[in-house]
Amino acid sequence: MALSRRHPAAVFAVLAIALGTTGAAYAAVSASTAPKQVVKSATQVEQGKSLFLEGCSSCHGLAAQGSSDGPSLIGVGSAAVDFQVGSGRMPLAGPAVQAVSKPSQYSESEIAALAAYVASVGPGPAIPTQDMLKTDGADLALGGELFRTNCSQCHSVSGKGGALSEGRWAPNLMGADGKEMYEAMVTGPQNMPIFSDKTITVEEKQAIIRYLQELQKQESPGGAALGRLGPVTEGLFLFIVGLGALIVVAVWIGAKAK
Ligand code: HEC
Ligand code: HEC
Repeated sequence: MALSRRHPAAVFAVLAIALGTTGAAYAAVSASTAPKQVVKSATQVEQGKSLFLEGCSSCHGLAAQGSSDGPSLIGVGSAAVDFQVGSGRMPLAGPAVQAVSKPSQYSESEIAALAAYVASVGPGPAIPTQDMLKTDGADLALGGELFRTNCSQCHSVSGKGGALSEGRWAPNLMGADGKEMYEAMVTGPQNMPIFSDKTITVEEKQAIIRYLQELQKQESPGGAALGRLGPVTEGLFLFIVGLGALIVVAVWIGAKAK
């Protein structure tokens, strides 16, 4: 009798084991590559609260109600926290005319936790979703028009920023990303007005973002941009530098002739 070392069920056992391991491996891989979801779980709010008590409550109060050192955060929404902490403006080191943007002290998940906590104390503008930040189909010309009517008085026509009163300034927008632009519009940091979705619709915001992103892409093919202020600066530049050069040459020739 031939020695059958394989039990008829062995094939099934091997198959089952193989399927099991593939399944487990797949589950592990897909879990690690699955998009991170912004779930505002109870634990995230808890974590945000303890981060808040540690780093923010000295100025914003133990329940985000505000104090003499910082405004109330009730109703500012997750977008304001994402903007302020993401851009490194918060936590503020101490009294200042204006919070400056610097590398953030918090990780992405900590910022999300802080944002979830502040959103839990009062409803406000939420962090924009990827969908809201899509600008492929946005109207560039409309964006330019909206920018010139609503933003350029502070940020200048070129988007390079400008000085405001009392030592404050509207920052240069050439380094801002789409999310920052959206969040700045819906939360109105400091002197900036709030442009809610009723004043400027989501589509109009996308148009403005697209316009600014086009400006950011544009290099100056013709040499120095001179602040992109138009013919007056260009004329003045020629007048001073061009005429100046002619005068220098004339003086030099005169000196040589002596
Ligand atoms: C030293 C005091 C101080 C600390 C610490 C501080 N803040 Fe602030 N915060 C301020 C002041 C002052 C303002 C107003 C700033 C302005 O108008 O430029 C402000 C503004 C804000 C705003 C904007 C509110 C709005 O109306 O849009 C948010 C959001 C915010 N802080 C969140 C935080 C968070 C989160 C932390 C902790 C990580 C924090 N802050 C730590 C003083 C502080
Ligand atoms: C009244 C003046 C004013 C107007 C109008 C204004 N802004 Fe601002 N904007 C500011 C100031 C001031 C800040 C800086 C706030 C701070 O540092 O806390 C700012 C900040 C920003 C930022 C953040 C830049 C960064 O460095 O993180 C963006 C983006 C922005 N504004 C976009 C806009 C857009 C788009 C509009 C028009 C829809 C607009 N602003 C209209 C004054 C203004």
